[in-house]
Amino acid sequence: MTSQVLDRALVMEAVRVTEAAAIAAWAQVGRGDEKAADQAAVDAMRTALNQLPIRGVIVIGEGERDEAPMLYIGEKVGQGKGPRVDIALDPLEGTTLTAKAMANALAVMAWAPEGTLLNAPDTYMDKIACGPGYPAGMLDLGRSAADNARVLAAAKGAPVSEITVCVLDRPRHAEIIASLRAAGARVYLITDGDVAGVMNTADPETGVDLYLGQGGAPEGVLACAALKCVGGQFQGRLVFRNADEKARARAHGITDLGKTYDLHEMVRADAIFVATGVTSGDLLDGVRLADGFVHTHTLVMNSSTGTVREVRMKRRS
Ligand code: FBP
Repeated sequence: MTSQVLDRALVMEAVRVTEAAAIAAWAQVGRGDEKAADQAAVDAMRTALNQLPIRGVIVIGEGERDEAPMLYIGEKVGQGKGPRVDIALDPLEGTTLTAKAMANALAVMAWAPEGTLLNAPDTYMDKIACGPGYPAGMLDLGRSAADNARVLAAAKGAPVSEITVCVLDRPRHAEIIASLRAAGARVYLITDGDVAGVMNTADPETGVDLYLGQGGAPEGVLACAALKCVGGQFQGRLVFRNADEKARARAHGITDLGKTYDLHEMVRADAIFVATGVTSGDLLDGVRLADGFVHTHTLVMNSSTGTVREVRMKRRS
């Protein structure tokens, strides 16, 4: 089953899906309309997905069926033949970034064999992540932010002052940010887009060692799929603001609401991860129009082979 889902030709087909979403969203870059940007990406991604020879089911998508008309959780996509695939997607990760023409907006998707991705509800999640090369089980959400930074620094053989921690710039993170700075770490603040934020930890060029803070749970599953392909550690714990969110989690089959998940519990089998840049950022170039061609830049990774590919596409516009 695994090999079929991760079939090489099929993996390359997945690239077309995020390319299509990114190109569609790009038409809305800088236009101040988050909804229009998201809708364009959703439409394009759904059309592209339905051309693939898979029996896909959306596990992480645009929302519950009653609130999202397309790419809702449970929606079946693909041609209805071929391997059965769990799909996690975010046609536009960074709607505000796109509307404001800011860096790091992505179209992202991950897939894995049926029944192997965590059915995360659309709540927040406490997250901690680092890249590869550290002792297994090093990170611990049960520890303070500063202590995790100290443990990582010791494992890296560097002083805490040389550690950079990526955090979403939100008032809810004020304490974490202050404690990290007090411990001597650098804090790299991002305004949105924590899938890219987590992925930064696995890319030495970004200089980011650790990711910390609360963001969307669906984005947590996508980020785990990415880290599964390149190595790294992740822990996530769902955060509930009210009874309705708890009910949502239970409806997703989650019984232990306080559980801390590690990467391999969120993505329980080999997976692929694909991301195309909408706007240029730390990891990818954005969509660009030049010489009568539309250009895209995509990262496609397969955890079963440990392959990371960058795909540059140009198509006459
Ligand atoms: P959208 O693209 O759906 O707007 O999400 C962007 C994002 O920054 C995510 O990357 C992140 O997980 C989440 O929003 C954080 O939520 P909030 O903006 O409520 O803090």
